[in-house]
Amino acid sequence: MNVNGARLKQELEELGLISEMAPPAVTRVLFTEVDLRGRAYVKNLCREAGLEIREDAVGNTFARWVGSEPVLPAAATGSHIDAIPNAGAYDGTVGVLGGLEAIRTLQSSGYHPRRSIELVMFTSEEPTRFGIGCLGSRLMSGVLDANAGAHLKGKDGVSLDDARRAAGFDGPLESVRLHPGAYYAFVELHIEQGPLLERGKTDVGLVTAIAAPAGFKIWIEGEGGHAGAVLMPDRRDAFLAAAEIALAVESCVKASGSIDTVGTVGVCEVFPGAVNSVPSKARLEVDVRDIDGTRRDAVLEAIYTECDAIAARRGVTLRRELVNADPPAQCDIDIVGVMQKACADQGATSQLMISRAYHDTLFMARIAPSAMLFIPCRNGVSHRPDEYSSPEAIVIGTAVLAETLAQLAR
Ligand code: HGY
Ligand code: MN
Ligand code: MN
Repeated sequence: MNVNGARLKQELEELGLISEMAPPAVTRVLFTEVDLRGRAYVKNLCREAGLEIREDAVGNTFARWVGSEPVLPAAATGSHIDAIPNAGAYDGTVGVLGGLEAIRTLQSSGYHPRRSIELVMFTSEEPTRFGIGCLGSRLMSGVLDANAGAHLKGKDGVSLDDARRAAGFDGPLESVRLHPGAYYAFVELHIEQGPLLERGKTDVGLVTAIAAPAGFKIWIEGEGGHAGAVLMPDRRDAFLAAAEIALAVESCVKASGSIDTVGTVGVCEVFPGAVNSVPSKARLEVDVRDIDGTRRDAVLEAIYTECDAIAARRGVTLRRELVNADPPAQCDIDIVGVMQKACADQGATSQLMISRAYHDTLFMARIAPSAMLFIPCRNGVSHRPDEYSSPEAIVIGTAVLAETLAQLAR
C-alpha cells in the first residue's frame, strides 16, 4: 500500500493546531468553536477526496466512498477528533485522518470497492463536556436514548439539545440510531495509549476485547465555617471526606485481586474554595474500569460501602449518581483474522491485545462486527501534550487499515 505519509503527517499537525491551547497541547471540546473548526477541516479533506458527506442530529459525521453495489451495508472505519483539556495530537485523530488516508490510498491504487467504505467521525468520544464518553456512538447504538438531549447538561447548565442546535445540528435525536446490519464491519485505528507495543517493538496491536468502563459522580455536603474559629472536633469538612473517599477508591481497586482493575478520581471540586473557609461541599468524578465487568461491579459496590462508612464517621451527607457502567466488548474474531493477514501482507509484526482505554468501537460492536488496530505511542503516553506516534508507525497502521478495508469491501 502506497500511503502518502508526508500528507498524513502534515494533516495531523494542522489539525493539532486547531486547539484552545498552544501546541503541543491540544484541547478541543465538543461543540466549541475549535471543535467546529476541526470538524470543518476534516470535512473539507473528505470533500477533496470525493466522499459523500452527511452529518446526523448530534454531529456524527459520515464520509462515504460509494461502492459499485451501494445497497450493500458499508465497511466502516473512523474515530474522534475531540480532545480533553491539555491532551495530545494523536488520540482519535490518527483513526480519522488515517482512515481518510487509507481510503485515498485505495483510490489511488485503482481499487474499486463493491461495498461502500465509510469514514465516521464520532461526536464527543471524550466525556469532557457532558460527563459521559462516546456520546455519539452511544446514541448510534441505542445505549443512550433520545431523552439524553434534555437531561444531559454541561457545567454551564446548557443541555445537549441546546448545545447541538447552537452548533447547527438539529433534528430528532432518535434519528441518530443505527440498527444492527447498518454496517457490514467496523474497524478503528487508534494509538495504543499504553506501552506494550513500543516495549515489544511490535508494529500493530490486534485488539480482541475492550475493557468495561464505569463512571460515577458524588456530591459531599458537610458544614462550612471560619478556618480560624471552628475547632477541629466541631468540623464536618466536606473536602476531607472527599479525600478519604478518593483514597478508598484506590484501596478498593487495589484489593480487587487483579492488575486489570483501575480506578481514577480525575475531578475534585471544593466549595467555597477559600483558603480561610472550611469546605462545606465537595464533588468528585470517579472512573473505574476492568476487562471483567463482574469484578468491576464488585469493586464499585465496595467503594459505595466505604463511602457510606466515611460519611457516617465524618457527619457529612452524600449523593451519588452513576453515569455509566458498560460491559466490556469482544472484537469480531473474523475481522481480527483479516487484520492479521493484512499485517502479514504489509510485512508488519502484530500481537493480540486488549484495550484498556474505551473507544467508540465499544459501542459500534453492538451494531456491527467490529475490531481495532493499535499502533505504538511513545512511552505509552496519552492524554498529555507529549503524546506522540511516529510517522512510520502511523503509515504502517494506515497501510494495514487500507488492506483490511479493501478485503472487507470487496
Ligand atoms: O478515557 C478513555 O478511555 C478514552 O481515551 N476516552
Ligand atoms: Mn482519549
Ligand atoms: Mn481516543
